[in-house]
Amino acid sequence: MELLLDLAPCSEGAILPILPKTAPNLPKACHTRNGAPYMPPIPVGTTLIGDTAQFLVVGHMGYPIPQANSYREVIAPLIQAMSANPGTDTEVRFTLKKEGISLAWITLSDSGAEGMREDTSGPAIDDYLRTQLPVAYARGTLLPDSPWALRACLSDYALRDRFDIICTSGGTGLTSRDQTPETTEKLLDRTLPGFVIAMMTNSLAKTPHAVLSRATAGIIGQSLVINLPGSRKAVLENLEAIAPALKHTLAKLHNDPSDCGG
Ligand code: MTE
Repeated sequence: MELLLDLAPCSEGAILPILPKTAPNLPKACHTRNGAPYMPPIPVGTTLIGDTAQFLVVGHMGYPIPQANSYREVIAPLIQAMSANPGTDTEVRFTLKKEGISLAWITLSDSGAEGMREDTSGPAIDDYLRTQLPVAYARGTLLPDSPWALRACLSDYALRDRFDIICTSGGTGLTSRDQTPETTEKLLDRTLPGFVIAMMTNSLAKTPHAVLSRATAGIIGQSLVINLPGSRKAVLENLEAIAPALKHTLAKLHNDPSDCGG
């Protein structure tokens, strides 16, 4: 896929939206919520490669286009400059390439979200999976134990940003605020019970308290979603059980037709 962009100069690391006025071939750049043209959002972690500049897709944002009595919303990809960009007077052709894995982690913790407790579990997911997979782009967030906030975040990350892997941490236990598994289950297109069995088997070999976790795993769109317990130690004990299967899981999720027998 290719994009024609007309970009202003920007410094390395700058994040800018691809808006209709910067992308003359809008149908390939953006999609609208309530009107044509439609195109699925560009997966985060996709690289835009031009002759003089490269950008990384790091998210999406809603951009209002005024109408007579209301507005039309464009979902604009957000791109980050991988080096200083001199800018262009004319349209420049960019090729889109997706290499590596995009990873999102969501920590559910009331005290963490209030700044009362340092979250070490989210960064542990990031650090560990980088040792196992070619992570091209990662994003972490800290939410209170709120089903509403988690539902919004999971659907945005899976269906709008199209992350390859989304790990949650925390909220799998038994207190009345622990609602991560039931919130996740309602959004899953398909469940992956094998992931849950592998994580539980490995965890029980480490601690009998593993029985308290009600974690689930599955697919939303083309994103692999995995619930993990909320401590750094538990995150690592669970991830080490499924890490050997992650590459193959993602390949199959992206419709790899090759024979699994070998
Ligand atoms: N799994 C592993 N591998 N290691 C652990 O230390 N802790 C358990 C369980 N699973 C644990 C584990 C405990 S004590 C609890 S309460 C539940 O995960 C739920 O944790 P959460 O509410 O932080 O998600």
